[in-house]
Amino acid sequence: MAALFPAEEFARLKKELVLFRCALSNMEMRVWTLLEEFQNLQTYNPIEHVKSRLKSPESIADKLKRRGFDLTAENARNQLSDIAGIRCICSYERDILKLAEVITRQPDIKILKQRDYIENPKASGYRSYHLIIEVPIYLTEQTERLPVEVQIRTQAMDFWASLEYKVRYKFNDEMPEAITRNLWECAEKISELDKQMFQIQDVANLTRQKK
Ligand code: GTP
Ligand code: MG
Repeated sequence: MAALFPAEEFARLKKELVLFRCALSNMEMRVWTLLEEFQNLQTYNPIEHVKSRLKSPESIADKLKRRGFDLTAENARNQLSDIAGIRCICSYERDILKLAEVITRQPDIKILKQRDYIENPKASGYRSYHLIIEVPIYLTEQTERLPVEVQIRTQAMDFWASLEYKVRYKFNDEMPEAITRNLWECAEKISELDKQMFQIQDVANLTRQKK
């Protein structure tokens, strides 16, 4: 059965979510600014597209329950770091670290966690670059700092992650060994494709320069 916040805590959570929505908009604005620059002031745009989402109260409750925390607004704020999430999909693997660096270099952002699942893929085969950063929100009376999860991956990694998620969901996290293995093999193939597509554009660039 789905977990539910008690009424009083739900009212508090809704106020917290206003702040998280602001933090997410703030982060979207930063990425949008970079996109404007890449598209109009530079010769290369590494960002294919951007997705963002705010976790629903139902998903927040489920995750707190799964982790053994009481369903309170305070726990939502302090125990979860992915209530606000943004995903940047890059053209090539090489673009990912560069984009992560550009984001983390911003002086008012604090890095809380950095995980390179491309250098070190998960056992599932999952690849992506994860950042948990703290973004400042300037309110009338005080400044609030909220965590935002940033996932940076290629289109190929995104393709695999979204389909794998759907398959895993169907098995309720108890995936048969054969399917786990199959998905892992697909992740390896996809990683090869990423490299191959990069080499193709590399050759194309060199050929154009010689002309
Ligand atoms: P949660 O997994 O969200 O509880 O947080 P965590 O602290 O374990 O962080 P982790 O970096 O492992 O995962 C954060 C997010 O990355 C997840 O919510 C997913 O969006 C994504 N992710 C991590 N592992 C996988 C995976 O094996 N498959 C897919 N499809 N997504 C994954
Ligand atoms: Mg996890």
